[in-house]
Parts: sequence; C-alpha cells; structure tokens
Amino acid sequence: MIRTSIQIIHDEHTTLASMLRSIGMMVERGPGKNPQNYFDVLRAMLFYIDEFPERLHHPKETELLFPKVAERVPETAALIAQLDREHELGESNVRELLHLLLAWELLGESRREAFAVAAKRYLGFYLEHMRLEETVILPAALKVLSDEDWKEIDAAFETNCDPLTGQYPRDPMYDALFTRIVNQAPAPIGLGED
Ligand SMILES: [Fe+2]
Ligand SMILES: [Fe+2]
Repeated sequence: MIRTSIQIIHDEHTTLASMLRSIGMMVERGPGKNPQNYFDVLRAMLFYIDEFPERLHHPKETELLFPKVAERVPETAALIAQLDREHELGESNVRELLHLLLAWELLGESRREAFAVAAKRYLGFYLEHMRLEETVILPAALKVLSDEDWKEIDAAFETNCDPLTGQYPRDPMYDALFTRIVNQAPAPIGLGED
C-alpha cells in the first residue's frame, strides 16, 4: 500500500534532487553572457532550498517519522541520529553557500573556486542524505509502522505543499518563487536565455 507521507517524501526528494543537479550544471557552465541573471537564478535556487525543504521537509522527518522508526527498528537508530544531525546542519550549510555565492558575485573571480568547491560538496552531501533515507529508512518504516502510525504521519505531511510536485495544494508564495526560477534559469535547466 502506498502511504501518502512516503509519496510526499519521494516527490520532494525527486524535485529537490533536480534543483540540486541544476545548481551543479550552472556551476559547471559559469555565468556566460548574462552574469546578472546567472547570479539571480543561483541565489533564488539556494534561497528556495533554505526556505522550503529546510523548514518543511526535514522537520517532519525528524519530528514525526524518524522517532517511530528508530524505536521500532533499533538497527536504524545510529543512521537516524546521523540524518537528524544533518538536518540540524542543513540551514547553516545552505546559508554558508549563499554567502560564498555573494562573495563570488560581489568580489569577483578570485572567489569563484571557493564557491564551486563548496557547492559540489554540498550537492554530494545532500544527494547521499536523501539516498540513505530512500534506501534504508523508508523501507524500514513501511515494514514496521502500524495503520495508526501512518494515519498520524500522513495527516501531518498532507499539510505540506511543495509547488514543485504539482500534486498537492500549492502555496502561492512558493509557487511564485519556483516559477521565477524556472523562467529565469538558462536552458536546458529552465526556460530562460543562455
Ligand atoms: Fe532528510
Ligand atoms: Fe528527506
């Protein structure tokens, strides 16, 4: 049986991963002919990651899903403790990256490498975090949680609306930000000019 909360986690991971990969592609390509637009888009992408998943996705995992899984499947407790620590660090990591981006934008080329290195590290860290949730924690949760548990978890997750998935009620504020990112990001990442 497909549980609503698991579906929401999957969808948010998929869209978050594509946002992260877009950041990676943009870092590889560099500012090109339109540096102003380039920095605007990268800033908006990092801001989106700080604003939406960091505030709504991770807290629900940490507060609702993880404690129940750690309790029922003690073998997952160490990994869950690691994932929780990563959630705690998520906000400061993305803000540090935003700061490094500003340094490159405002101080110039000598600060580019530091941002590129940190961005690559951040992408790897985040993709691995989601991979562990998908391959270890979610399967364990599906195996051991009761219908009663799922009712509670699903209800909490359903109030969570990611504009990227289009499958849940949209919060117009995040929707507007996402549309702006897609319209401005250079092709093939988004619909904007190179
Ligand atoms: Fe997570
Ligand atoms: Fe997650």
